[in-house]
Amino acid sequence: MTTGACLASLGHFVTCVDVDRAKVSRLGAGRVDILEPGLADLVHRGLAAGRLEFVVGARDAVRHAQAVFLCVPTPMGAGGSADLRAVEAVTAEIGDVLPRGCALVTKSTVPVGTSKRIQALVGRPDVPVVSNPEFLREGTAVADFLGPDRIVVGSDDLAAARWVGDLYAELDAPVVVADAASAELVKYAANCYLALKLSYVNSIAELCERLGADISLVTEGMGYDRRIGRTFLKPGPGWGGSCLPKDTSALVKVAESVNYDFTMLTSAIDENLAQRDRIVAKIAGAVGGTLAGARIGVLGLAFKAGTNDLRDSPALAVSSVLCALGAELIAYDPAVDGEIAGMTVVDDAYQVAKDADVVVVLTEWAEFKHLDWAAMAELMEGVDVVDTRNLLDPRVIVDAGLSWQGVGRPRAAARIKVS
Ligand code: UDX
Repeated sequence: MTTGACLASLGHFVTCVDVDRAKVSRLGAGRVDILEPGLADLVHRGLAAGRLEFVVGARDAVRHAQAVFLCVPTPMGAGGSADLRAVEAVTAEIGDVLPRGCALVTKSTVPVGTSKRIQALVGRPDVPVVSNPEFLREGTAVADFLGPDRIVVGSDDLAAARWVGDLYAELDAPVVVADAASAELVKYAANCYLALKLSYVNSIAELCERLGADISLVTEGMGYDRRIGRTFLKPGPGWGGSCLPKDTSALVKVAESVNYDFTMLTSAIDENLAQRDRIVAKIAGAVGGTLAGARIGVLGLAFKAGTNDLRDSPALAVSSVLCALGAELIAYDPAVDGEIAGMTVVDDAYQVAKDADVVVVLTEWAEFKHLDWAAMAELMEGVDVVDTRNLLDPRVIVDAGLSWQGVGRPRAAARIKVS
């Protein structure tokens, strides 16, 4: 949907196809359900200008297309490989009705070699298959699409790849034209590099705790090195979301398929699980070592701030372990409502603090910084705040009469009241 609305905003005429009738009619009426800044506006403008439509039925929709973008999901399948059933099904469905010369473009993250498989499956030498991976982050997808760091297009038909690159001519971004395999690998290589970077940062944060150093200063010192860069250097409860976990597993599988043991990447995945365990141990320590029966207030459930996405959320993973170990969880996330098994989800941060032995920040929503922490302290039973995102100002927490511990930073202990 983001791809469709953004391509329409570049001046193209776009028909978005989905199998979900209800979703299609909601979108056709301009109702956008996902939390994605700027998207609803683009959808409204596209609909009003007649450049964007939403339909069910792929065969009719593609009959006169110059390009068809496959944006279907490629979830983690058996054994960690990408599940390509949706890509294959839609290719088989539309193969014989694509017009001559129409580019069949894969946006979905697909293993190296998929373009070739699609080319074979579509059975049409007159239909070039082009890989055009997207690098959109949730929560900033529209801004990422319209202000990309780069456009990558790859095909064994280079003229077709260039033509797809030209669809983005309005945007001021370098275009990397590649063969199909290289373009397909760029997406995995980039996402897995980001995962490696974060696992590395989380390991350095652990070292900081053991050595008495401060990760915020260490990463500040590292980040000014332009070869490293200042972004994607924040420690946390582990990396999650709908892309990094599935793409790291899929690349390990891709490597296995060519007999390469990608130990660096498997270590990064293991380190990510170890980080969750360390966070659980830290929370257990804050409640005296035993989680059974502890009342834990959880701030944040989404996999990162700015989204309501719970898929592969480290916050949810940590919460589930806490529940399994017998803790009682009261959770609040500004973008999440409804029921989550094992915990009580409330709609106000202060309810989380009520009678809590410890309050844990698991997602970096800015609003948690601006809570009245003195009021939170009043409501709490215990005095500990575990801030897995290093979001809060430790001085504010200590001034409120509480103790603060983050990740990779020195603890700030509550002042003992002298009566
Ligand atoms: C990611 C890629 O960034 C994007 O290019 C790709 O197209 C899709 O996958 P997204 O899944 O939306 O995007 O999330 P991202 O912002 O990359 O965060 C991934 C995870 O890393 C989150 O759990 C986030 O909390 C964590 N993270 C990110 C950190 O722990 N520290 C950081 O410094 C940055």
